[in-house]
Amino acid sequence: MRVAIYPGTFDPVTNGHLDILKRSVTLFDKVIISVALDNYKNNLFDNNERINLLRAVTNGMEKVEVDSFKGLLVDYCSQKGATAIIRGLRAVSDFEYEFQMALMNKKLNNNVETIFLMTSSKFSFISSSIIKQASSLGGCVQGLVPDIVAHAITQKYS
Ligand code: COA
Repeated sequence: MRVAIYPGTFDPVTNGHLDILKRSVTLFDKVIISVALDNYKNNLFDNNERINLLRAVTNGMEKVEVDSFKGLLVDYCSQKGATAIIRGLRAVSDFEYEFQMALMNKKLNNNVETIFLMTSSKFSFISSSIIKQASSLGGCVQGLVPDIVAHAITQKYS
C-alpha cells in the first residue's frame, strides 16, 4: 500500500491545501494529512481546532486520514509506513525553503521521497496568513477557504 503524508501547520486549512490533497489521493492509496504540533508559528487556531477543521473539511474523502505529529517528520513517516511527503509549490519563492527541507528530510531518511505538486493558479497567491489578515480586517475570503473555515475565522476575530 502506497502511503503519503501531507504535513503542515494548517492554521487554518485553505482551498489551496485541499486542492493539493485531492490531487495527491489520485497518486496514493492513502494520504494522511497531518498537523505539525510543534511549530514555531504564532497560531490563531490551537492544535485541536486545526485538527477538527481538517476533519470537517475532509469528511467523506476516500483514502484521506487526518492526524497530527510531533518531532521529526521523517520519523513520523516511518511510524505510519509512509514513503512520500506531499508538499505544494505555489511560487518560486516557495522553492528555496522547500528544497532545503526536502534535502534535509532526504538526508535524515533516504527512504522517504518528497513529492511536489504545483498549486492550481487560482490558489497560488493564498497562504493561511494572508487569509487571516484579510479576514481580520473584514475582507471577504469566500472561495479561498471552505465555508466552515471562513466562519471559524470570523468567530475568532469577532
Ligand atoms: N495553498 C495555500 N497555502 C499554502 C499551500 C497551498 N497549496 N501550501 C503552503 N501554503 C502556505 C501555508 O498556508 C503556510 O502559510 P503561512 O505561513 O501563512 O501559515 C505556508 O504556506 C507554509 O506552511 P505549511 O505548508 O503549513 O508548512 P509549514 O512550513 O508551516 O510546515 C512542516 C512545515 C510542518 C512540514 C515542517 O516544519 C516539519 O516537517 N516540521 C517537523 C520537524 C521536522 O521534521 N522538520 C524537518 C527537518 S528539515
